[in-house]
Amino acid sequence: MKVDVLIGLQWGDEGKGKIVDYLAPNYQYIARYQGGPNAGHTIYLNGKKFVLHTIPSGIFHEGIGNIIGNGVVINPLSLLHEIKNLEAEGIDVKSKLFIAKKGLLILPTHIELDKANEKKRGLQKIGSTLRGITPAYMDKTGRNAIKIGEIFESNFKEKYNNLVEKHISMLKTMDYELDNKAYETEWLDAIEQLKSYQFIDCEYFVNQELKKGKRILAEGAQGTMLDVDFGTYPFVTSSNTISGGVCTGLGVAPQKIGEVYGVIKAYCTRVGSGPFPTELNDETGEQLRAAGNEFGATTGRPRRCGWLDAPAVKYACMLNGVTQLCITKMDVLNHFETIHVGVTYKSENNESSDIIPTVISDNIECEYQSFEGWNQDLAYSNDYNALPTPFKNYISSLERIFETPIKMVSVGPERESLYIL
Ligand code: GDP
Ligand code: IMO
Ligand code: MG
Repeated sequence: MKVDVLIGLQWGDEGKGKIVDYLAPNYQYIARYQGGPNAGHTIYLNGKKFVLHTIPSGIFHEGIGNIIGNGVVINPLSLLHEIKNLEAEGIDVKSKLFIAKKGLLILPTHIELDKANEKKRGLQKIGSTLRGITPAYMDKTGRNAIKIGEIFESNFKEKYNNLVEKHISMLKTMDYELDNKAYETEWLDAIEQLKSYQFIDCEYFVNQELKKGKRILAEGAQGTMLDVDFGTYPFVTSSNTISGGVCTGLGVAPQKIGEVYGVIKAYCTRVGSGPFPTELNDETGEQLRAAGNEFGATTGRPRRCGWLDAPAVKYACMLNGVTQLCITKMDVLNHFETIHVGVTYKSENNESSDIIPTVISDNIECEYQSFEGWNQDLAYSNDYNALPTPFKNYISSLERIFETPIKMVSVGPERESLYIL
């Protein structure tokens, strides 16, 4: 058995949560492999909205295990809140959640460091979600991090205090006022409460389950253009969001990666700073934000909106080895007479290319291809062929541009509003 992977191909918030929730019944396990509570994956069930940050999007189904892999950075307090919210809805999280012992802890001081770093950057700030993600991953590569499995060891508190001391001395050099005592008490208490949940040796667990013939879907967080190596660096997150991250984030070998689902929005959004070649700073951008309700699921910030960026999606298909595409939020384009897609980037000396440069400059121009809009509300019918011709033309044109089949088309936030092609 192989691990299938589902990845966002843009700058995050493509609708990964909804699609994972739809696909989940085909799997025995859903596994997060990178990122942390910077993610916000939204799922609507019976008209009720749920936002998951660290817990995988298979948690609403019976009989499916949900793994938080070793590549994930975990804030015990935020994870506990998430668990309690689900338990309050009657979901038996305890039997369905598996936490990798090698997952890394986000300490309260990581959050303070995140804030201090952003403050210091001033106008150059990344627009981080301020969840402590980058400082936690910096401690991983700096070989200082604490693994969540270490909470069971007798010297945990000593290790914790040593790391906090290190962080405090860093914060002092940044002239940053630290005030997280109350948060620290709650954080330490959350660790005690988490001890009653299931902890696993993720790499052994995953490989043994695959050997038994069990099916696993790895759920990406963020998106390819936020990947620390291949995204719009430095305006990225601090993990490998691409399918390659699954190997290091769960402990599976490359030949065990199977199907790769790539999720794109019918247009494009970005939250936080950094280049966005197809961004629309005008009424059309406002129209997309309003129609798509484009406000961050984690921070509530308005998302920047623009047309689909084809060079970025093609690049993401290549990097991830996408075998099939899933396009979401097609309904958001219902009332546009013309739809545009950025097909090439134009450099300062007027050369056109669809290659993603080493650094995308802030003022890069795009050349667009235009498509006729369908300009009407869509009644969901289960029959893809009954959809307006311009809608189907947009989909088939994108398949040609991306040289990858589109197998799922989403037209609403609910589980049911999905055409399978
Ligand atoms: P994720 O981080 O990739 O899981 O995506 P988010 O949950 O952050 O953002 C996607 C938003 O779009 C959520 O509010 C979803 O409920 C919503 N959504 C997903 N698919 C569709 C769709 O096809 N149409 C509409 N209108 N909303 C959608
Ligand atoms: P999901 O999984 C959209 C963005 C932040 C910021 C940059 C770095 O819901 O798609 P970080 O907190 O990681 O240091 O922030 O990355 N970002 C996201 N944008 N969706 C996400 O996750 C994101 N996670 C981080 O806005 O620009
Ligand atoms: Mg999101």
